[in-house]
Amino acid sequence: MLDAFDLVIFGGAGDLSRRKLLPALYAGVAAGRVNRDSRIILTSRSSIEGSQIDWLKGLFVANKPACGVEEKSLAEFSAMVTVIELGLMTAGDDWVALQALLTGDDARDNAKDDERALVHFLAVPPAVFTRTCELLCEYGLNESRARIVLEKPLGHDLASAQAINEDVGRCFKEDQTFRIDHYLGKEAVQNLLALRFSNIMFEELWSANTIDHIQITIAEDLGVEGRGGFYEGTGAMRDMVQNHLLQLLCLVAMEPPARLDGDSIREEKLKVLKSLKQYSGPEIDENVVRAQYSAGAMAGEAVGSYGDDLELDGESTTETFVALKAYIENWRWANVPFYLRTGKRLPDRFAEIVIQFKPIPHSPHAGWGKQINPNRFIIRMQPEDHLALRMMVKNHGSATEALKEVEMNLDVVADGGARLGPYLRLILDAARGDQSLFVHRDEVEHAWRWVDNIIAHWEHSPLPVKKYQAGTWGPYEAHDLMVRDERTWFYEPNGRLGDG
Ligand code: BG6
Repeated sequence: MLDAFDLVIFGGAGDLSRRKLLPALYAGVAAGRVNRDSRIILTSRSSIEGSQIDWLKGLFVANKPACGVEEKSLAEFSAMVTVIELGLMTAGDDWVALQALLTGDDARDNAKDDERALVHFLAVPPAVFTRTCELLCEYGLNESRARIVLEKPLGHDLASAQAINEDVGRCFKEDQTFRIDHYLGKEAVQNLLALRFSNIMFEELWSANTIDHIQITIAEDLGVEGRGGFYEGTGAMRDMVQNHLLQLLCLVAMEPPARLDGDSIREEKLKVLKSLKQYSGPEIDENVVRAQYSAGAMAGEAVGSYGDDLELDGESTTETFVALKAYIENWRWANVPFYLRTGKRLPDRFAEIVIQFKPIPHSPHAGWGKQINPNRFIIRMQPEDHLALRMMVKNHGSATEALKEVEMNLDVVADGGARLGPYLRLILDAARGDQSLFVHRDEVEHAWRWVDNIIAHWEHSPLPVKKYQAGTWGPYEAHDLMVRDERTWFYEPNGRLGDG
């Protein structure tokens, strides 16, 4: 097991910490993955309500960690947690107290504590990244054992991302800086790398020679409830495409790295981002669809529009849905379309990469009465981890000669093990100093360059933001993006198209 470490979560009582980080850490402690001598320090602007253990219990009951909630583990976990009140913008006694906690005599019960990893997790808006880093510097909390984890979004555009990277870079070296994208911590995503680079059969087929196209979907059934302040003016392009979707695209498309270390993987991902075709204005209108949900129904219940959810007075042009076609301009992927889509208030919650192979050139089975579907390799990250290969076989035992499509499931869950979630994996990697599943500043900046080009065009485009009814698969144009190319989106379980 990894040595004990200290973790400070800035924004420790905030939404991300309550919903994702603390439940993940609790599950990790209960499963014996986190050394119980570790310390978890939560900073908060104001004190938490009630006793710490009741507060933790309340948030675990609401957010359901993988292991369930159990009194003994809860008490053990609570003993590892300290909540302190701390202002993020100004130096003062609260910072002195944090410094004493982390470096003072209390922290040095044994000599090893001087070297234990110290992970600062900034679960706060990017506007306060700079000042928090400056204060960490001022109080000597950026020493070499320290690492800084930056939660997305890293800025609002290229210029703001560069400014943050510069500011953080003045306090922490690049090898101390961990830009998190929790999609890279998902088990099925890591399995994609294992499959691609440990099996000759996949790697040999992985190119424009055999692959027809690739689809990457992150669909959410939730709306923007509770996050309107952040979402309005951000939109799906910045919130999901700039990071999660482009990172997944990089992992699918990158060349095999020489080694699985941070630098080698990140160099290969960066080459993909640099090879993305930059669209001109009219090409953007043709290849990128943006839309916003209108009122509709989810599982039979009426739900409001985006504007209703945010209680907006006027019209908003913020997109809650994006579907696009991208190209990677290199030898391996020449002319292979990558279709990306994401949206809120879609009928189902799932995240999936579909590698669709080319159709066979000639069928000797003509007359067997079944359409021959192209092979598909499916990497599902949500709602469950699932890897599957779809292929055609003879309909075994049938009296007549017939083909059928079957799914070969690759059982990826080891030893019936519980899913511990991406955040735990990534926090432990940061404590270990392993940057392979974190994003390099150059990747962030290149992703912004590509996305900024599209957003800049939207600001002047005469094409309005489309509407789609909540509970449908987005606007007609997202469907048409595929149909025009004689293709379809692969997984549409409730299969309805929105009509605005
Ligand atoms: C976050 C976005 O990064 O990812 C959210 O800010 C989105 O808007 C979330 O809901 C989706 O993550 P997951 O793991 O629940 O699919």
